[in-house]
Amino acid sequence: MKYKSQKVAYWFFALSMLLLVLQITYGFIMGFARIGFDNLHEFIPFNTARAVHTNLLVVWLLSGFMGAAYYIIPEEAQKELVSVKLAYVQLISLALVGVTAVIGFHFNIWEGRKFLEIPRPLDYLVVINVLLFLGLILITLFKGKRQTTTALVLSMGLLFAALLYLPGMLPFDSQVKDSFFRWWVVHLWVEGVWELIMGGILSFLLIKLTGVDREVIEKWLYVIVGLTFLSGVLGTGHHYYYIGVNKIWIIVGGIFSALEPLAFLAMALFAVNMYRKGEKKHPNKLALYWTLGAAIVAFVGAGLLGFAHTLPQTNLYTHGTLVTAMHGHLAFWGAYGMIVLAIISYSLPNLTGRKLFDSSRGRMAFWLSNIGMIGMTVAFGVAGVAQVYLERKFKMDFMLVQKEIGIHFVVLVICASIFATGIILYIVDFIKHGQPTDEALEIKN
Ligand code: HEM
Ligand code: HEM
Ligand SMILES: [Fe+2]
Repeated sequence: MKYKSQKVAYWFFALSMLLLVLQITYGFIMGFARIGFDNLHEFIPFNTARAVHTNLLVVWLLSGFMGAAYYIIPEEAQKELVSVKLAYVQLISLALVGVTAVIGFHFNIWEGRKFLEIPRPLDYLVVINVLLFLGLILITLFKGKRQTTTALVLSMGLLFAALLYLPGMLPFDSQVKDSFFRWWVVHLWVEGVWELIMGGILSFLLIKLTGVDREVIEKWLYVIVGLTFLSGVLGTGHHYYYIGVNKIWIIVGGIFSALEPLAFLAMALFAVNMYRKGEKKHPNKLALYWTLGAAIVAFVGAGLLGFAHTLPQTNLYTHGTLVTAMHGHLAFWGAYGMIVLAIISYSLPNLTGRKLFDSSRGRMAFWLSNIGMIGMTVAFGVAGVAQVYLERKFKMDFMLVQKEIGIHFVVLVICASIFATGIILYIVDFIKHGQPTDEALEIKN
């Protein structure tokens, strides 16, 4: 069954793609600055570019998640969205808040708290926006004909993500306390509630793409939710080792964060097993690529590369180096970037009626972006390990080390170009689908 109000999702996806392009642009500004082409320095210094890059990342992912919810919830609940008009209001206000924040960063209107740079007054607008979004989604879900596990897990993830934004708004004079609660947002998002969002979207896609029974798929989902909470909540401790809080966190954080890869492993096994089991294969091969890809790359980027620096003995040396950037890129890409691209690939043909299920352009988009991102991860990783040895082990001066590892950024920019080519191809495919039509959504399937 399709629902006309699912059309809203398209515009969230379009906003998401636009912001992704901008995010990549700022990535290149940093990459080029690192190899001596810092021509934009006067207006966009490195720290500005970095804040814009990471905040745009968060906003394009959130816009993608919201689009996913507007697509999935009506179909799961078997009910049209309660208000399409308000959903468009929410879309436009989301775009306005995002753009305002990013423009402000260029004029040094921001807070120096990595990932939470948005100034507090704007945070209130974010809260209002997200409340409107949640209201629309939750009312639709509970007024609907059914409340599936998939829809509940997805909505729970979105609701908790909104609630967890609040500790990041508390004012503190103490750097330690501020840092302590900053991680409630940053860590508990990506290693907690966003995993539920990912699990929900993954479950929806696997139900559609593999034809395996919902009961089987949703049983797995319970396991993933369980593993996520078991490890991720106390796993927050891997950010508390040396920040000035109680030393008990060295043990708690070490043990529980070491368990975190299990949730990502479960997700990868889940996806691959359901694919193998599935008999009714859906013709949308591209959506299948992105879905399986997300589960597998998330395990490598978040699970394996997260584990690589999570023990206190290692983190003592690697904290805040390019080793972190190595992990941050592949984890965000695999888990959240790819799952957003997966739900877009699945839903676009249904929304627009154009069945570009398996174009060679689409395949190239998948492979180039992934090969490029893996190359970038390796470049960051090599630079990071060199940085750890030179700066932390041999006590070389910070800036001298940065100069020493400059060559790895040449590799980074080359791989980033491959990555960006893949993304451009993906967006060409997106545009070729055209806009959603009522006729496309009238065909029952
Ligand atoms: C999709 C899931 C994940 C994403 C998107 C992600 C992303 C990130 C990002 C962006 C940072 C830098 C944060 C900052 O400094 O503000 C970070 C730090 C870190 N992550 Fe993850 N991560 C994920 C999962 C994991 C997992 C499962 C583990 C452990 C097994 C892990 C271990 C770490 C550690 C130890 C740090 C701190 C690095 C440091 O001290 O500089 N991450 N992660
Ligand atoms: C053209 C592509 C890209 C380039 C050239 C690029 C480059 C960079 C650079 C140079 C940094 C700063 C590292 C430092 O502190 O020295 C950075 C940070 C970051 N980028 Fe990218 N990036 C690109 C695309 C992406 C994408 C697609 C994602 C996510 C899916 C991403 C996620 C991040 C994150 C999470 C950080 C912060 C890492 C940390 O906290 O250490 N980037 N990027
Ligand atoms: Fe963490």
